Order: sequence, then C-alpha cells, then structure tokens
Amino acid sequence: MIQGLKNGTYKKIVVLTGAGISVSAGIPDFRSPGSGIYANLQKYNLKRPEDLFTISYFLEKPEVFYEFAKEFDLDSFDATPTHFFIRLLQDKSLLSMNITQNIDNLEAKASIQDDFLCQAHGSLRNAFCAKCKKEMDFLTFKEHVKAGAIYRCNAAGCGGPVKPEIVFFGESLPKSFFKSMKAVEECDLMLVMGTALAVSPFNQLPFFTSQGVHQILINRENTNATSAHDFEKGNYRLFVPGNCDDTIRKIVSDCGWEEEFEKVLPE
Ligand code: OAD
Ligand code: ZN
Repeated sequence: MIQGLKNGTYKKIVVLTGAGISVSAGIPDFRSPGSGIYANLQKYNLKRPEDLFTISYFLEKPEVFYEFAKEFDLDSFDATPTHFFIRLLQDKSLLSMNITQNIDNLEAKASIQDDFLCQAHGSLRNAFCAKCKKEMDFLTFKEHVKAGAIYRCNAAGCGGPVKPEIVFFGESLPKSFFKSMKAVEECDLMLVMGTALAVSPFNQLPFFTSQGVHQILINRENTNATSAHDFEKGNYRLFVPGNCDDTIRKIVSDCGWEEEFEKVLPE
C-alpha cells in the first residue's frame, strides 16, 4: 500500500484523525488507560466520564465543564509531525479531506486549509448558548473560563450556560460532517490515525468507502470497529501499530519524501 503512495496510485486520500495524533503535542487522548482524560476525572465524581461532554449534564451542571476547561489552554500547543504529514499530502494535491474528531485546531497550525478540513466534533472558535443556541462572544467565554465563572446567555428570559462550539454527546454533528461523506465515497485511500473509533457516527465513516478501497489504520492499538464489514466488501485494512509520528516518518522515508517533509516542518 505504501508503494501506492509512492508511485501516485492514490490521488484522493481521506485522512480520519482522532486525539492520538495530538498526544505528542502534549494533549492527552480520551481513552488510553492511565493517561487518557477519561481515566483522570475522579475529582468531578461523574457517573460516566462522558458526562463531562454530555449536553444534558452540561445544562444541569455547567460548572464541571468550566472547571475542566480552565485546566486546558489549547492555544499553547503546537502541531505534530503527523499534522504536517497531512499538510504535505495537501501540498502534493493528494489530500481529498481530513475529517477530524479533534477540536484543538492544530490542523490550522499546520496550515491545513479549511477546504480540506472537516472538524466533525466542532472546534474552539465560537461559543453558543447551550439552551437557545444564540451565538455569544467567544473571547468573553474564554475570560469566564479563566475566571472560574459561568458565562450566561443574554437572550431575554434565557440565561442558559454558554459553551464552545464543540459537539457534546446528545448534539448533532455539523453539516460539514455530512457533506464530507462525498469525499469518503470517492476516496481511493483511507488513512485512519490516532483514534479508537469508539464514537458514532464518526466511526461509521470507514463503512462508506467504495468497494475495494484500501484502508490503513495507524494507531497504538487495533480497533475492531469495521473489520467484519471490510472483509465482506473486500476492503483491505492494514493495521500499522505504534506511535503515529514514528510511522509517518517511516512512510515519508519509504516514499522518498524526506526533503519535502523537512520543508513543511517548522524550524
Ligand atoms: P480516544 O482516546 O478514544 O482514542 C485515541 C486512540 O489513539 C487510542 O486508540 C490510542 O491508543 C491511540 N493513540 C494514543 N497516542 C497515540 C500516538 N502517539 N500514536 C498513535 N496512536 C495513539 O480518542 P478519539 O478516538 O479521538 O468526543 O475519541 C473520539 C471522541 O471521543 C472524541 O472526539 C470525544 C471523545 O468522547 C466527544 O467528546 C464528543
Ligand atoms: Zn440562550
């Protein structure tokens, strides 16, 4: 399959990404035992770790998410070699779409353009009232988080808590996610990196490639989300275990792209 990258067989690549690709930047993922966010929420006394990102829970107890958000200043992290590899695919006109579950905006820091990016779980760019959906000022939201105060909606009679434009459990995904299905249907290679493929509907995307389209999973652990389906359809799923930055460097070297890669990496 790597041969296909090198000799230009693949020209419409869809890259699916998750929290694992930002781990080397210093941002924890969700589900890794020990280090993942979900393994470190004891102080919030949640029934389920996912409550932290669940809309019904947020409407009831917004202070829990605000406290959590205070600990994370996502502005301070840099894009990883894996992000820059996606950028390289874009520069080589091989990238059809990067569909990410991440909300850390590291794609922008690697200059992946909005036209080639779908942030399926939203992003940290805007803020909305969780109750009436009124758009509120994002910087004011951030100031409230920093000060440990809940920012409340100013629409008459509302007063709902304001949240960033990230998709919580119980909320629908942005239109851009459904639009990105076209790229999935038309892709000639699907690269899946740094995700446990545990959350629907994102984890359904590998089901929608065309017959026989190759899929490569680059991840610390295998996932079984689509294997039976792939087998039926004849899609070939190659699993490359390990850290994605290491695998990316190996792919870059196997393709003879080292020089171009060094050029897109920051000094
Ligand atoms: P997860 O934490 O579920 O999965 C991250 C995957 O990346 C795991 O399989 C890790 O083994 C792997 N991993 C970690 N570090 C890695 C590295 N350096 N190289 C390669 N693989 C590595 O994160 P996501 O799949 O992104 O949604 O989680 C999906 C969604 O669940 C999130 O968007 C979030 C969460 O609940 C919402 O909150 C709506
Ligand atoms: Zn409101």
